[in-house]
Amino acid sequence: MRHLMSPMDFTVEELDALMDRAEDIKNHPENYNHACEGKTLATCFYEPSTRTRLSFEAAMINLGGDVLGFASADSSSAAKGESVSDTIRVISSYADICAMRHPKEGAPLVASSRSKIPVINAGDGGHQHPTQTLTDLFTIRSLRGTLDGLTIGLCGDLKFGRTVHSLINALVRYNNIKFILISPPELRVPSYIREDVLCKNNIPFEEVKSLEDAMPSLDILYMTRVQRERFFNEEDYLRMKDFYILDKEKMELAKKDMMVLHPLPRVNEISVEVDDDPRAMYFTQAQYGVYIRMALILTLLEAAKEDKDA
Ligand code: CP
Repeated sequence: MRHLMSPMDFTVEELDALMDRAEDIKNHPENYNHACEGKTLATCFYEPSTRTRLSFEAAMINLGGDVLGFASADSSSAAKGESVSDTIRVISSYADICAMRHPKEGAPLVASSRSKIPVINAGDGGHQHPTQTLTDLFTIRSLRGTLDGLTIGLCGDLKFGRTVHSLINALVRYNNIKFILISPPELRVPSYIREDVLCKNNIPFEEVKSLEDAMPSLDILYMTRVQRERFFNEEDYLRMKDFYILDKEKMELAKKDMMVLHPLPRVNEISVEVDDDPRAMYFTQAQYGVYIRMALILTLLEAAKEDKDA
């Protein structure tokens, strides 16, 4: 059974094929209206979400399939103490594929080991968010035409931001990538990303504090929210939450073709005045998340069928 726990579960060739498919879906959505008729997606979300859950549901509806699920741990039997393993065994008999978000790192992996249907990690704690990464890669490739030769600035909460960890993991496999990691010292990337991913793969990177200084050299600026829910105390969160605010003045320092991305939701880190700048692509990014999730659902359901037929 093929699942998706990390962007590394797909080879670069498989990622390319997935993005080709998403591009075709974007250009010819009418060809896919009935592709998943008779199939059901379960969305099991133990943590809040707007984009990931609803874009998965939109993806399955666009493919002609059905959706069921829960949007919080409180509205499921997790509130009565049911384990993720038991839940997925039951869901396996109600649905054909499952997208799961959980506050505990590794919970979707545990679920996948007990599941009879493909499980997609829709975000596990501060660990990974692979379908956000697929969205990010697809947005960059679709709008810039390539994932090679880019200088990428990652700004904000690089410690707890799971989208950042997944994105770095995925991008190091492309050519001539350089990272500028922009954060306060307390929110730098964890050592397993710095040492095991960046250093190990000889990827050029700098860790800096000033967004202004980094702006002129960036091709992509990936802004992130300070992850309040992962802080141990409110005082630290309040001290760091407004550390970076991207505004019109800072945008003037950037290249004319730089692209601003953000996984969303945003809090204060991008001023709304930036939304009208043609380089602000974060709402397009959220829209592209539907196309890549459609491609992913199709691909995993096909793999499950091949498995069953073998
Ligand atoms: N980007 C993202 O994961 O957004 P949600 O938390 O709204 O799903």
